[in-house]
Amino acid sequence: MSHIDSNKAKVVKKTMKFLLKVLLSILGLAVVIAISGGIYFNSNVINSEKIKKHKGPDINEITFNGYAFRDLNRNGELDIYEDKRKPLEDRANDLLSQMTLDEKIRLLKGSGMKSAMGMGPSDEGVRGAVGTIVSTPRMGIPTLYLSDGPAGLRINPTRKNDENTYYCTAFPIGTLLASTWNVDLVEKVGDAMGNETLEYGLDVILGPGANIHRSPLCGRNFEYYSEDPVLTGEIGAAMVNGIESNGVGTSVKHFVANNQETNRNFNDVHISERALREIYLKGFEIIVKKAQPWTIMSSYNKVNGTYASESRDLLTDILRDDWGFEGIVMTDWFGKKTPSAQIHAGNDLLEPGTRKQYKALKKAAKNGELSEEDINTSVRRILKLALNSPKMGPYPISNDPDLKAHAEITRQSASEGMVLLKNDGTLPLKRVNNIALFGSTSYDFIAGGTGSGDVNEAYTVSLGEGLENAGFVINEAASQLFDAFKTAHAEEFEKPEGTLAAMVNPFTAPEMKLTKTQVTEVVGTADVAIVTIGRNSGEGGDRVEKDDFLLSADENEMLKNVCETFHASGKKVIVVMNIGGVIETASWKEQPDAILLAWQGGQESGNSVADILSGKVNPSGRLPMTFPIALKDHKSSANFPMEGIAMNLGSMLSNKKEKPAEELIANVDYTKYEEGIYVGYRHFDKNKLDVSYPFGYGLSYTEFDYFNMEIELVDGIIHITVEIENTGKVPGKEVVEIYASKSDTKIDRPLQELKAFAKTPLLNSGESTELSIHFPISDLSYWNEDSSGWTLEEGSYTIHSASSSRDIRLTKEILDLPR
Ligand code: BGC
Repeated sequence: MSHIDSNKAKVVKKTMKFLLKVLLSILGLAVVIAISGGIYFNSNVINSEKIKKHKGPDINEITFNGYAFRDLNRNGELDIYEDKRKPLEDRANDLLSQMTLDEKIRLLKGSGMKSAMGMGPSDEGVRGAVGTIVSTPRMGIPTLYLSDGPAGLRINPTRKNDENTYYCTAFPIGTLLASTWNVDLVEKVGDAMGNETLEYGLDVILGPGANIHRSPLCGRNFEYYSEDPVLTGEIGAAMVNGIESNGVGTSVKHFVANNQETNRNFNDVHISERALREIYLKGFEIIVKKAQPWTIMSSYNKVNGTYASESRDLLTDILRDDWGFEGIVMTDWFGKKTPSAQIHAGNDLLEPGTRKQYKALKKAAKNGELSEEDINTSVRRILKLALNSPKMGPYPISNDPDLKAHAEITRQSASEGMVLLKNDGTLPLKRVNNIALFGSTSYDFIAGGTGSGDVNEAYTVSLGEGLENAGFVINEAASQLFDAFKTAHAEEFEKPEGTLAAMVNPFTAPEMKLTKTQVTEVVGTADVAIVTIGRNSGEGGDRVEKDDFLLSADENEMLKNVCETFHASGKKVIVVMNIGGVIETASWKEQPDAILLAWQGGQESGNSVADILSGKVNPSGRLPMTFPIALKDHKSSANFPMEGIAMNLGSMLSNKKEKPAEELIANVDYTKYEEGIYVGYRHFDKNKLDVSYPFGYGLSYTEFDYFNMEIELVDGIIHITVEIENTGKVPGKEVVEIYASKSDTKIDRPLQELKAFAKTPLLNSGESTELSIHFPISDLSYWNEDSSGWTLEEGSYTIHSASSSRDIRLTKEILDLPR
């Protein structure tokens, strides 16, 4: 080898060595990052709790002076907290007095998401439960489990090495339940939901959702009830009462003003005191006063510069001191701001709980940033819940709720909340045998929205299946068109697996392009056509106008081709809207002969729609929000994120740095609620805007007459009676909506506001009933920003009995309101 060659070889060797070193360093760094990331992820997401199992004897039942009790702390004596005859407050105080500071601090945060992720020993926890209240083994307090959500319990349906299944019932979405305007029915649904919560071993179900539909585009509107706070509050209270009648808790969410999903973790809502009180807080207030829920979930967002979970004003002054809320407040998941500030504000429980939060609380307690009094206040509330929970019975869970009976309740409630928007003598179907189904969602019906509001149900009845169950024949030629389309677009029909994937990408089946020639091939063999328009959305993202609020070009084309072809053959077309939030209807509603707003009716959806189309059930649902002509008609559209920015999952887990004021982006970093109290019909009425379908609207197969409205004022309560007669030919139910207005008002107030409502029982043709409806005079007050309190204007008020906000049937004055 020459000298030059050996030098070259040396250089190559050196370079190789260097590269190897670099490579090894990179690899080492990657391993370190992976390990520390893993540790961080483990202690901050999966498992934040290191409590060891109690090593002592089992908890025994012993008898003292003839009273049998569970000796929870195994001291052989009857402690006050073990004595169920004692007041809950005393029991909680006794337990609290026996706990160490560390045990108390551990209680202030959950134990992570181990069970949610299906980890840990199989005999521990409930697979799929998203949160916990940690155990205090020394005192015999077990782990409590919390899980979503508003349309039914959300847990994993299967478990490793376990042949049993743990399916839950997918009940109708919140918006559909509100459309029933039937509090008794909603309470029944809640009862069934609560029963599944109890039987599957959960202690608290994370729902219902009580945020207001400020804009039709909020991605989570389907989980919420209405654009109106009274409807929200009454339906929400019925749901809470129904669920909690099982001895399990609810978590009414998201408190408060969480009306958009875009940048939901950091968005700052700029809102007037009046709008907050009259619109956004009002529904929660009604729920608290009428149902006293076990828990409330604070929202991620800020309200006027302060995170809701850190706002003492919201969580203590208003919620507790003003309204008398006695339960606990928990954060929304990973809504982790400053733990000590959250506890001080009255946000008692941090969910799902991280190691970092535990350490921060320990430190804050040590350096006096967090007072022992604040800790005790929150812990006492948590202990009260724990002592009341099914686990303390302990309730012998069956893991076998009556899913069949619950499916029946689902079917019934879904059909009662579906809203008939148009009917040119087409429905109920008569002399119809063969039905042509168009639109992918006809075949792939959507039971409910995505994200934490979704449920793992055993099955969903599609529209086609429902119609077949009702004895109709589904048109072969139309089905074949769909099958061919599905085969050609198999990939697009693949649904995202798992909550997170579905969250980022809510699945709606792709829509087929339908030519006139294709429809012509079908029309000869069909008696009638149904076109289903489907929409899906969920947590983490808002909807957009194009191809979502508005029909897509393909949908418009499909509708036009079906209507023209069927009408040319003298056959009718029905549109079924399988949606979770409002869409545009004004531009196309003239084309079909009937429109049924079916919402997303849970797992029995197809059967429920068939019940209405066949006439087995007479529709009695009413709109809980306005269907505007155009999106921009909503005042909120001037200040709403219209771009549909996708959720950044990473930002949920990290504490984002506050941006300097000049970098803040409107409708992302902050949203100005410039419309104030003028949300929904309050705005459309005040500005005399035409709408496509007004708030409170819905048709029936029969007609009702309103007569003999009487009003009496007794002890501060306005009592209204009104008689309703079914003047049509078939049995049906009528919703009576009570609006109040004040024509001589001295302040800026809506033209009319919903104050109460009632639904008749099923009235046969010619049958009548008297409804009694009442509400306190104080409900006529407005929030006076000058005095920061409710003010009742004196003088006269007008009370309307109405069939919709734009169909007032009877009106009466109340002169000179007593003060
Ligand atoms: C949602 C809550 C839900 C929680 C637990 C959050 O992302 O905002 O509504 O209860 O997750 O799943």
